Amino acid sequence: MNEIQRTKSSGVKPTPKEHLERMRKGMTEATYQPPDLRKAKKRLKQDVMVHYDFQIPLDMQKIGINKHYYIRTYGCQMNEHDTEVMAGLLTSMGFTQTDKMSQADVILLNTCAIRENAENKVFGELGHLKPLKKENPDVIVGICGCMSQEEAVVHRIMRKHPFVDMIFGTHNIHRLPHLLKEAMFQKAMVVEVWSKEGDIIENLPKVRKGHLKAWVNIMYGCDKFCTYCIVPYTRGKERSRMPEDIIQEVKQLAQEGYKEVTLLGQNVNAYGKDLAFDYSLGHLMDELRLIDIPRIRFTTSHPKDFDDHLIDILAKGKNLLHHIHLPVQSGSSDILRVMARRHTREDYLTLVKKIQAKIPNVTLTTDIIVGFPNETDEQFEETLSLVRTVGFEHAFTFIYSPREGTPAARWKDTTPMEVKKSRLQRLNTLVNQQSKQAMEKYINQVVDVLVEGESRKNEAVLAGYTEQNKLVNFKAPKHLIGQIVPVKITEAKTWSLYGEWVTE
Ligand code: SAH
Ligand code: SF4
Ligand code: F3S
Repeated sequence: MNEIQRTKSSGVKPTPKEHLERMRKGMTEATYQPPDLRKAKKRLKQDVMVHYDFQIPLDMQKIGINKHYYIRTYGCQMNEHDTEVMAGLLTSMGFTQTDKMSQADVILLNTCAIRENAENKVFGELGHLKPLKKENPDVIVGICGCMSQEEAVVHRIMRKHPFVDMIFGTHNIHRLPHLLKEAMFQKAMVVEVWSKEGDIIENLPKVRKGHLKAWVNIMYGCDKFCTYCIVPYTRGKERSRMPEDIIQEVKQLAQEGYKEVTLLGQNVNAYGKDLAFDYSLGHLMDELRLIDIPRIRFTTSHPKDFDDHLIDILAKGKNLLHHIHLPVQSGSSDILRVMARRHTREDYLTLVKKIQAKIPNVTLTTDIIVGFPNETDEQFEETLSLVRTVGFEHAFTFIYSPREGTPAARWKDTTPMEVKKSRLQRLNTLVNQQSKQAMEKYINQVVDVLVEGESRKNEAVLAGYTEQNKLVNFKAPKHLIGQIVPVKITEAKTWSLYGEWVTE
């Protein structure tokens, strides 16, 4: 079976007017298809096709021999994993990876659009690439990832950075061989960004970054449309991979000797909602836990979709790790409402109580935004109090950044930046205090550490992570690298633990 259709097929054709305009500009369908935020927002009841017949075109299979590629990745784990797929595609075309941009024949920037500073980093890098391209006009420069899904970004690149050879979107990754071919053999900029997708492409080649820990996509996209967030526009609608494809991938990783998998999705616990049969993240985890792989994590989960069944399955433990990253964003129900988070402060606290009751040793971490438009001091205080009440052991904290095309970006915001910065600082002080306290609990305990390698600062010291994802450094022989070993913790810092290998 090459392809399965779950209900109806989808696919966006240009309107007759758009088609004419493109013909007039001499642009073909494949070389010029820019993003469209309006289209990206539409969620039709069209089903997702799963394609199993991916192949690199014959004439591209050797095109990269004696050539190098360089990919710089920004953003989240989803992007990191997309980079592994692009590395797989390029390797299948004969290219070799290089760490030196100056040595590369193909340079890709896999970009992130989540906050303005993420985008600024990419525009800064583009500035550096210009002289490189001037020196070596044959090098192909490509922009992909979430920024390329934004209309304004694509227009800005076309206007201000015309030396870029190709721009392709998050739904066009499997098209890389075709796009590269066009970019190599024609002068015009190749732009292909599908705004409204429907498909899942299986069997894409991957070159994974490590040999111990692997990422496995279980679903793509997000349908939540939180009012501040660009992701539903850049990653498209929620669509789940078929369970058997995920199970097969995890089994394969176990066979290859991987010790840990992280199931990936913007909303992993919305997994299965779009499938034609009754199957959720709980069902999937219950099947995955039987696979002989020591550690299974998942990220990111949304409080709204965290059901009792999932908690019961996670409570079974074993290789299902008791660390849950559960973004809350704010401790104020009023702010959560304008964020369109679909949960209140009370809902969140009730959920946490339920999780803590069934999984007593659970570690909870979160994401928080401060300075959402017009957040008051009182509302911010509610966030601090929620952080204390839950006892988060870590949090990623951000100052709100307006994203063009999202509802919140149109709202007037009266809170001065200085106030937002000082709130962030107060929040970080609290979070760091709690992180340190959480670390101190481990002193004199023996924890299991997946040994990843030598410590970055001292090669006589090994480094690895506990089940709760705490970094542990300890002195031990190098042959332990790649194993899960017991370590007795002797010292705690804010970000890491120090310990001794327990040989018996
Ligand atoms: N899907 C995940 C989060 C993805 S983005 C979830 O819903 O939990 C990662 C984090 O970036 C978010 O949790 C949020 O805290 C932050 N974020 C998203 N949009 C932002 C914006 N416009 N400004 C500041 N932070 C933002
Ligand atoms: Fe963004 Fe909200 Fe979706 Fe997370 S759930 S990706 S914050 S829209
Ligand atoms: Fe950034 Fe896109 Fe991930 S916006 S956070 S790379 S989904």
